[in-house]
Amino acid sequence: MYFPLAESTNIINLLLYNMVKIAPSILAADFSCLGKEIKKAQKLADMIHLDIMDGHFVPNLTFGKDISRVSKAATKLPHDAHLMVTHPEHYIADFASIGVEYISFHLELEGSKIELGQNRWVYVANGKVNKTRTRKLLNDIKIAGSKAGLALSPQTEFELAVPFLKDVDLLILMSVNPGFAGQKFMPEVYDKIKRAAAFKQDNGLRYEIMVDGGVGTKNARKLADCGATILVSGSSFFSDESFQKTIRELRS
Ligand code: DX5
Ligand code: ZN
Repeated sequence: MYFPLAESTNIINLLLYNMVKIAPSILAADFSCLGKEIKKAQKLADMIHLDIMDGHFVPNLTFGKDISRVSKAATKLPHDAHLMVTHPEHYIADFASIGVEYISFHLELEGSKIELGQNRWVYVANGKVNKTRTRKLLNDIKIAGSKAGLALSPQTEFELAVPFLKDVDLLILMSVNPGFAGQKFMPEVYDKIKRAAAFKQDNGLRYEIMVDGGVGTKNARKLADCGATILVSGSSFFSDESFQKTIRELRS
């Protein structure tokens, strides 16, 4: 169990919290001692989240397969590579070759760029999803030996993902604009999680529902209640002692 139960010992809550997995994003770790950070993190984590950014699809550059390999070497936990890149095609083989369990790309690859000011931007789908390319990417990830994930930026309607969900192992619902750790959580995601969970149940599907961005002590319980199965946490996981304490106490 990873999160405190409130007053009630409601069995459904108990089951929900037992199921929720924690995936620290190493983007918020101290890169000067990354191996150590990951070894420490693994005690409280179920998987490791790798934020891969190309400075084009998102306004930030992070790292590629070489740094990811450091993480793979430091822990046996599964990894998911969240590709925030314009050309995921170029990176599937790299991440599959180092044994990353899940590889995800964004549904907004061929959408429009919205300027947010201060050198920031976000790509929005605007209804423009290339179905053939999306299906091919999902298939290519599986052929390469990993599980396939689809990521939705906060502005993207859940319905746009529906045609692909039977082929998806991991659905990432972003609760911040992709690009940076430490941003403010966007509560609009709650409704999207509920829809994703209901669709999964109604159609007998098995995809994980990962919520990514601004997750911490204040919203973790509600996210699990809505149907999230994996919570990504960067800043809170690595710097908020109360979040670490909550996870630690409940695991001991
Ligand atoms: C944002 C990334 C997230 C983020 C998580 O583009 O995809 O994974 O770094 O970090 P926090 O928890 O700090 O929002
Ligand atoms: Zn991410």
